[in-house]
Order: sequence, then C-alpha cells, then structure tokens
Amino acid sequence: MLRSKIIATGSYAPERILRNQDLEKMVDTSDEWITERTGIKERRIADEKQAASDLAYEASKAALKGANLKSKDIDLIIVATVTGDMPVPSTACLLQDKLGARKAAAFDINAACSGFIYGLSVADSFIRSGTYKRILVVGAEILSKFTDWEDRSTCVLFGDGAGAAILEPTEEDRGIISTKIHSDGSLWELLNLPGGGSRNPVSKDTIKKRLHYLKMKGNETFKVAVRTLENLIVDTLKENKLKPSQLSLLIPHQANLRIIQATANRLDLPMDRVIVNLDRYGNTSAASIPIALDEAAKTGRVRDGNYILLEAFGGGLTWASALIKW
Ligand code: COA
Repeated sequence: MLRSKIIATGSYAPERILRNQDLEKMVDTSDEWITERTGIKERRIADEKQAASDLAYEASKAALKGANLKSKDIDLIIVATVTGDMPVPSTACLLQDKLGARKAAAFDINAACSGFIYGLSVADSFIRSGTYKRILVVGAEILSKFTDWEDRSTCVLFGDGAGAAILEPTEEDRGIISTKIHSDGSLWELLNLPGGGSRNPVSKDTIKKRLHYLKMKGNETFKVAVRTLENLIVDTLKENKLKPSQLSLLIPHQANLRIIQATANRLDLPMDRVIVNLDRYGNTSAASIPIALDEAAKTGRVRDGNYILLEAFGGGLTWASALIKW
C-alpha cells in the first residue's frame, strides 16, 4: 500500500525574544496572569523587514538539508499561513522563487492554526494518488504584524516562526496513517481579521477602527476548542483501532497549556508524552506543529515505529488531526 512519510523536518524562529515582563510595560497585564492562563513565558518576534516567506525559506532550507535534497527535487510546495507576504501572489510562490524550486507547483492553504495539518492531508492525498513524489509542506506565520499591541486579550498570545516537512512515497508499513480535517464556518466570528479583504477593503475608516488586527473571543473559543479536540482525538484513535496507551507522542497545536492538558487528560496520557513548547514561542498558528515536530525529531523524542498524533484547532473554525507511524 502506497503511503506518504515525512523524511525530514526543519524550523526557524526569529531571534528577537519578547518576554511577559516586556508586555507588562506595554499593556495592563502581568507575567503571572499570562503564565497561569496560557503557559506562555516568551515569544519570538520577526524584524521589520522579515515576511512570512523569509521565515518559510529558513525552515525549508533546513528540511531540504536534512533530507539531502536540492530544491529542484521538489514537485509541490504547500504553505499554510494566514499572515502571508501579500494577498497575491501566494507565499508558496514567493517561497518557490527564493528556493529556486523551478519544477514545483505552489499554493497556500488558509486554515489558520490547523493549516499545517490541512497541508499534510492534501500532500498525503497527492502522494497516495501518485501525482507527486516530493512535497514540501510549510507552516509560516508572522502574527506580530497583525496583532493589536494595545489589546491585552490577544497581544500576549501570539508569536512568529516557521516549520517545514518533506514528504515522499513509501511502500513500508509506516508514514501518515490517517488525516482528518474539519470546519465549522458558522463560528467564524470567534476568530477573525476583518479588515483588508473584499468585505472591508483598506480605508482610513478600517484603520481607525483597527479592523486590520486579529480579533478573538478567547473564552468562547477556549470552550469550543476543548470539547472539539477531545472528540477529534478520541475519533481519530478509534477509527484507527489504536488505544491511547499505544501513542508515543502527542504534538498538539500550541495555543494554551490548559487546552493541551485537558486533551492529554482525556486520553489519560502523561504529560511527558506531550510536546509543549508554547512557553518559548507562544501561539505561532500554522507554524506551531511543524516547529514542535522538528524539535521532537531533533531531540530524539520520536523514534522509528512510534505512533504520534498531531492535532490542531483554529480560526474558521477549523480543526484537524494526523496520525503518523514514524
Ligand atoms: N492580562 C490580564 N488580564 C487579562 C488579560 C491579560 N493579558 N487578557 C484578558 N484579561 C482579563 C479579562 O479582561 C477578564 O477580566 P474580567 O474578568 O474582569 O472581565 C479576565 O482576564 C478573564 O478573561 P477571559 O478571556 O475569560 O480569560 P480566559 O481564562 O478565557 O483566558 C485566553 C483567555 C485567551 C488565554 C483563553 O481564553 C484562550 O486561550 N482561548 C483559546 C485560544 C485558542 O485556542 N484559539 C484558537 C487557536 S488560535
């Protein structure tokens, strides 16, 4: 049976660190509040000149190096992002240009924080159908440029970064076992960036109303996230006839430590089998899972034959899981 497997990963985070203590000087908040409510201690912030494709480029270079491949070997580039360089062209096309990956087709996916798993799901289908052989999937975000730094309810949450994975076909009994992607557009208002699109084109008025910044109803989103993720992971394991105890590692989207703990509790999974790095990066949306996956791979936390589960929830609303036998 033809499957796709991840042959290499890479990640990149900008150098500048913004700590909770720095935020205390910017808005009415405290390190204690942010730590208790989210688990976040610091996040990385891109410099003025960096755009999403620059972060994607660094992560992709690292993944190509790990795979011992040249950019010309890539057939398809998928970039998951909601903070792309510009509306047109896609960030994937800009990344293709930077990499010199001339042979590749390239497009973006907008599924917010679930974007990387959506990307894996699409790449997996292309590989299993025999359409493409080598696919680069990237999650890259610069949320700091779409964050309202005067809104304490959102500005403490987000960070910038990118992660990448390269997929290839395999006949072995390993690789991506299943992906599940879901959406509920009726709840779009919980998390959105209303300005700058065709609904509210940029004008003095949209800027005055700060519509060019991300808005989130955090508490309502939190409740839906916990309930939805619990069902998602239970269904994913059940459909694949796996018990939670057979999972070596859970790699959740890094939005909130309390959401991650609730998911782990539901599975009875000890926290040492859950990747948590939001204390260092905050919520990097589509980049959070590939960054965490890269760190897990590089620190020996995933080994051949291990079952690992990726899961995410985000704006749209969207949610998604990927079960992988490493
Ligand atoms: N510092 C201090 N106080 C803050 C604050 C901050 N940065 N942000 C909000 N508050 C205050 C609120 O004003 C509110 O005060 P009030 O009780 O006087 O009205 C209080 O803290 C509680 O706010 P609430 O929004 O109910 O907190 P919460 O426990 O829900 O935590 C989030 C807020 C955003 C951390 C949490 O809801 C969350 O993580 N949501 C989900 C995020 C997510 O998964 N998004 C999808 C993927 S991106």
